[in-house]
Amino acid sequence: MKLSFTLNGHPVEVATEPTLSLLELLRRHLNITSCKEGCGEGECGACAVFVDGRLVNSCIYPVLSLQGVEVTTLEALMEKTRNLRESFERHDAAQCGFCTPGLVMAAYDYLRNGGSPDPEAVKTALDGNLCRCTGYQKIIEAIVDASGEEQ
Ligand code: FES
Ligand code: FES
Repeated sequence: MKLSFTLNGHPVEVATEPTLSLLELLRRHLNITSCKEGCGEGECGACAVFVDGRLVNSCIYPVLSLQGVEVTTLEALMEKTRNLRESFERHDAAQCGFCTPGLVMAAYDYLRNGGSPDPEAVKTALDGNLCRCTGYQKIIEAIVDASGEEQ
């Protein structure tokens, strides 16, 4: 099947199998690698991208729903997430780094929607993101620290 949609501000036309997930399409065919395959079941947040401005787990987003939508990945948000990414670095919030792009996307979405700097609220906002390395404390501190800055 053929699909047309917008990827990071550019029109894309791609021939794909209808059974693929958005994550598979992005990683295997469109050279987008910020989104990671962790669980593959919508549970870990490592594969997060924006579809029409809404954060989704791309591993469970079917390519069949892509026609005409706008997909934005971390590759297109490097400038807008600079404060957050620098805060992650300052707080040593990434160890293996596998979960980090998904966490940055979730934190960016949280803060741009006026999310509170309260650590408990940040923790709740990260409910859908799993990290096997850090114990979350440094991640929460990094997001709280970045929360006063413009996203
Ligand atoms: S890989 Fe998509 S939510 Fe885990
Ligand atoms: S830093 Fe390794 S999974 Fe989060």
